[in-house]
Amino acid sequence: MSLALPNPYRIRIKTETDSTNADVLRALSAGEADGLLVWAVRQTQGRGRQGRSWHSLPGASLTFSVLIRPNPAEEAFSGRFTALGALAVIEALKELVGVKGALKWPNDVLLNGKKTAGVLAEAAWQGDQLAGLALGIGVNVSAGSVPEGVPLNFPATNIEKETGIRLEPDTLLSTILQAITALREILPTPEFFRVWEDSLAFKGEWALLRNETGETQRFRLLKLHDDGGLVVEDEAGELQTLYSSELTPSS
Ligand code: BTN
Repeated sequence: MSLALPNPYRIRIKTETDSTNADVLRALSAGEADGLLVWAVRQTQGRGRQGRSWHSLPGASLTFSVLIRPNPAEEAFSGRFTALGALAVIEALKELVGVKGALKWPNDVLLNGKKTAGVLAEAAWQGDQLAGLALGIGVNVSAGSVPEGVPLNFPATNIEKETGIRLEPDTLLSTILQAITALREILPTPEFFRVWEDSLAFKGEWALLRNETGETQRFRLLKLHDDGGLVVEDEAGELQTLYSSELTPSS
């Protein structure tokens, strides 16, 4: 397979692995440099946010992870890499299929209000120093990408269903990588924040959010905080900034 990869990316393709994020975390601890990309056809233990599993179907999904070693300019903004992954998918969809996806805070990409991609950034630490990140991205490309019978935390869809276009995974991958490269260049800037907030789904709307202990509460989504938190208003009119909650379907 020939892929046009921008610098500094190097690809490792696997027919099967446990999790491409786990592969990248292992590579990080073995000293691998920034830019390694692991793309797996099948993951046996694909993982999602908050300890959930990520299910995908070979041929119908794109599952890969990128090894990031934040440079000095990026270090103070490492909390932005999850958004960077989601925004890169949104950029690629705009370029390849001409649709505007939205970012369901903090890490999902929606097409027509349904989840089409998820991002999981996992950090590796050396003492209190950030050694690097595994930036994992899973995209539902075509029918069957979300296997039947799998419990979903949000309604899911795939690119082909929403657009009628069946993308080749390698085209999608190289377009996402180009977007990752461009977004990394603006990561520490107000321009990145503008792009991020511009893609935020449900802005100004009331939505149900679940916190890490499983409790749900209705909030109005106001804006992003520049540290990546979500500024919301509760039903008593109080403002709060949320960091580890996630949106759930309202009904
Ligand atoms: C989520 O929606 O909770 C995040 C899902 C992230 C899935 C991707 S697939 C490639 C990479 N490897 C993993 O094990 N997870 C991420």
